[in-house]
Amino acid sequence: MSHSPVFNVSPETLSRTRVNASQYAQMYARSLSNPEAFWAEQAQELLEWRAPFHKTLDWNFHTADVRWFEGGKLNVSENCLDRHLATRGDKIALIWEGNEPGDTRSITYRELHRAVCETTTLLRSLGVKKGDRVAIYLPMIIEAAVCMLACTRIGAVHTVVFAGFSAEALRDRINDCGCSLLITANEGLRGSKTIPLKATADVAVEECPSIRNVLVVQRTDAPCDMRPDRDMWYHQALAGLSGADDSTPEPMDSEDPMFILYTSGSTGKPKGVLHTTAGYLLYATHTFRYVFDLQEDDVHFCTADIGWITGHSYVLYGPLSNGATSLMFESVPTYPDAGRYWDIVERHKATIVYTAPTAIRALAKEGDEYVTRYCRDSIRLLGTVGEPINPDAWLWYHSVVGEGRCPIVDTWWQTETGGVMISPLPGAIPTKPGSATRPLFGVQPLIVDEQGKELLGNGVTGRLCIRFPWPGMMRTVYGDHERFRQTYFSTFPGLYFTGDGCRRDEDGYYWITGRVDDVLNVAGHRLGTAEVESAIVRSGAVAEAAVVGVPHDVKGQGIAAFCVLHADFSPTNDTRTKILATVREVISAIATPDHIWFVAGLPKTRSGKIMRRILRKIGEGEYSAVGDVSTLAEPGVVAEIVQLVETSRATKK
Ligand code: PRX
Repeated sequence: MSHSPVFNVSPETLSRTRVNASQYAQMYARSLSNPEAFWAEQAQELLEWRAPFHKTLDWNFHTADVRWFEGGKLNVSENCLDRHLATRGDKIALIWEGNEPGDTRSITYRELHRAVCETTTLLRSLGVKKGDRVAIYLPMIIEAAVCMLACTRIGAVHTVVFAGFSAEALRDRINDCGCSLLITANEGLRGSKTIPLKATADVAVEECPSIRNVLVVQRTDAPCDMRPDRDMWYHQALAGLSGADDSTPEPMDSEDPMFILYTSGSTGKPKGVLHTTAGYLLYATHTFRYVFDLQEDDVHFCTADIGWITGHSYVLYGPLSNGATSLMFESVPTYPDAGRYWDIVERHKATIVYTAPTAIRALAKEGDEYVTRYCRDSIRLLGTVGEPINPDAWLWYHSVVGEGRCPIVDTWWQTETGGVMISPLPGAIPTKPGSATRPLFGVQPLIVDEQGKELLGNGVTGRLCIRFPWPGMMRTVYGDHERFRQTYFSTFPGLYFTGDGCRRDEDGYYWITGRVDDVLNVAGHRLGTAEVESAIVRSGAVAEAAVVGVPHDVKGQGIAAFCVLHADFSPTNDTRTKILATVREVISAIATPDHIWFVAGLPKTRSGKIMRRILRKIGEGEYSAVGDVSTLAEPGVVAEIVQLVETSRATKK
């Protein structure tokens, strides 16, 4: 919007910045006119190779095949650790802030290297080899980083499962990719709650035939059941190595799989997004350096959990590959109170804060005093990720947290893209609250209409696609390449379709408007409507369910579930509780519906397709915008649903 305020880069930022406006323009132009030369140069400059690559790129967006840096050999852990030892051995690699304020630990590059080598030896002694899949179900503790890095040293493919996920979700992920080892902890701590990780893992592993061993990190003193033929304490197993060393890094091919991360789509079960070694590492390294305008003395505080892509790219791999100091936070932003982030900033002198709009909105609600009571002089840059940020939240972040002096990078990207795709570069691009601004180097976005026709020029709104590969893009859906092709490359043939709606304003700035498919974004977490619906039906009370996103002032989007009950269930609180409990058990608390509305029938076309558009409008409270319902199989259900929702909302108020 041309009338949005524009925030220019301050002279203070400009004085230390990596790239200024004209350099951005030049570099961007070159990254488009000769992408292969651009990325080959970045790959040589930013990574250490065991063998050089001979072909920079090979690609076909019709068959969904992309290969970068063929012929090259490298190892991720060597790039994140060994190569820094000579110059940064005593520099802090990770600062850990535990659940309780002040419970902290720091680990230097040399110490982290040693810990990773020991764990590599341990994993190899358990038979883990290159290409094996290892599931990691751990809280935000240093051991999580150590285990991920040890996998990459061996060339084993890690799949990190967020510690808030249920036993079923963990089981399905392990089985989908056939993990042989699971690494978990006895329990996790999040605010005033304890999370029984090992007990949950035990339930999952009951039905995971591929798991041979379970390694258990001792996070607390709480006891847990151990099955002697399968389970072992991590610390005891390490002690049992008695100095043995089998930690030589495996030279990996550029396109060897590096990790799998499960994410929700619009249909079916979560899919295993597969990232490969060189392209992912280069993209995480490059984007971290440029988006955050990395300086040697930075303390990077990314609040994301390691169970999400943001944690992979910007807590772990991006920072460590660059030799930076990264802060890992175990707890939640409101424990013990809403000042926790800023308490951490003050004590650890964080220079960059990278968090989600949902956290910003939740904290802004608690009042400025929780922020202003702590010193934030160390912060020089703020970032957001995960969902569109509303201008009010942006302005609060800018003026209260950043005292009006720190640029904000609103970074748009996805699990699939591996790293940031659209974002301002501090020092180069003036910002507008709510806009992710401009594409990063090598990123070629375009906006198309529903038929796939490109909308040229500025001032257009449509669907966001990318027309050219970038090194960090996912390579396949694990075990199902056809699903990969179908999901991303078949809607608009020849283009990568992001699933997002987008506007390009008069100045050529990009504004992401949210998902245009059946994917929800609840507090920055991705969920498929189909996934939540099938969990609701699993409760046994519901014959049919339809789920839509509804506006929510803290979570961005909340979940509304329209449920048709089985004849022998009544719309009581007990039924509601049963449904909620099932959703938590099948997926996780993240997927808990905010509204459950018991309806007599769902609006369907005559061919039986549920008209979510209508339910969405009702959920948004735009009852008069439901449009023409005369073509529905039973048009009368719409008026009934509207009445029910209106009444339920009126009684809540
Ligand atoms: O809809 C976009 C939204 O989050 C989706 C990707 O979710 P996920 O794979 O879980 O990755 C989140 C962290 C990278 C996108 O399709 N999204 C992400 N960042 C932004 C955003 N929407 C608007 N603005 C953003 N900065």
